[in-house]
Amino acid sequence: MEPNTQKLIHSFGALADLGQEIADTGDFIEMVRTSLHLLLGTLAIRRGAVVECPSHLDQTNPLALWGLGEGYEARFSVDDETKAAFLACETGAVAVHTSAAHEPSLVSFLAAHEAEYREQLIELIVPMIVRGDLTGLVLLGGKASGEPFNADDIEVIRSMVRHIGVGIHTHRLLAEVKQQAEENRRLYFDLRAIYRDTVRAFAAAIDIKDKYTQGHSDRVGKYSEIIARELGFAEEAVEGMAIAGYLHDVGKLVVERDIINAPYRIDAKQSSELNRHPGAGFEILSPINHPYADIPLSAKYHHERMDGRGYPDGLTDTQIPLGAKIVTVADSFDAMTTDRPYKKRRTFDEVVHDLRRNTGTQFDPVIVSAFCRALLKELNGETRERKFLKMLGKNYLDARKDAPLLVQLLSELDATTQSAAAGG
Ligand SMILES: [Fe+2]
Repeated sequence: MEPNTQKLIHSFGALADLGQEIADTGDFIEMVRTSLHLLLGTLAIRRGAVVECPSHLDQTNPLALWGLGEGYEARFSVDDETKAAFLACETGAVAVHTSAAHEPSLVSFLAAHEAEYREQLIELIVPMIVRGDLTGLVLLGGKASGEPFNADDIEVIRSMVRHIGVGIHTHRLLAEVKQQAEENRRLYFDLRAIYRDTVRAFAAAIDIKDKYTQGHSDRVGKYSEIIARELGFAEEAVEGMAIAGYLHDVGKLVVERDIINAPYRIDAKQSSELNRHPGAGFEILSPINHPYADIPLSAKYHHERMDGRGYPDGLTDTQIPLGAKIVTVADSFDAMTTDRPYKKRRTFDEVVHDLRRNTGTQFDPVIVSAFCRALLKELNGETRERKFLKMLGKNYLDARKDAPLLVQLLSELDATTQSAAAGG
């Protein structure tokens, strides 16, 4: 094999790798520079430049320069007519100083830059054409040997330039896709914020209807969020649980106000009317395309119990979705710690006692355990924010003294869940 051919093959191999690298962003400019270097090296050319022709501009954007005069930037204007002329150029390479029969716009372009190119010793301009677009131009000086470019040289140059062009084009596409993705991401976050605000407004509307439980939905949302985070949910799922909590009682919107606000224990008929609210909530929430899973199901099943004695469907343990189980604990905790017309709030030690008594029958031990862990961390001052204490308000300022009760409940729960795991 002729040494020249060998060198050519080597250069092409290197260029093939580079094409990939140009496309994969990385250090894009560095890759273009290396490509130019390879091209120059292959034909022993001393100087050259690769410039981009952005479609929305009539100015070139220089990407790589080699061996040109100091301060020379290869930044010049290329109007649409000139671009079209380069695209139509049949030889694929424009000899700068010959009086070949070019299109008029190209002739005047070359005439305008004649002095500049003479000074920089540029002899050839090769358009980079990719998918019918002028991606850029490659400016080349003459061969070091002083011989003119022959047809084979031009063929090699055109192939290599085309290769560089594809790399640049792909790089541009990737950049556009990236930008588009970034834009979509922003839009998505905006939408999520709007969704969240709407949900909170919705929750406030639910609570206004129930004059005895002001802020109930808001607190259940926050408690659910805390439990989910303690359970190690991903941030997105944590947010979803907050939403599920805010919306769990949305079905109360269809229950008569008098029943919700009855200042006495309601009778069986009223109670069955009130018990429609989980199902009604599901109906209201199902048609909405929530960005989080299980919001409607959490509303539907937040009054189910582990032992199957809940409503509306009497589901048991594993049949109840995890989200609903979380909302159940959050909901009950808020019910225990706020005054109702027929039921006074519990003291903190009574709350712990109730949690213990109802775990396994009403509540899932795993959820109660997570809830207690999070609560204990706050009582022990291990958390930066005081989320629970803020929501519990002034009635539970002395809850800290009952922290040992929580510790005890937690160790009992740990023993149960561990033996359940061992048995199961
Ligand atoms: Fe409820």
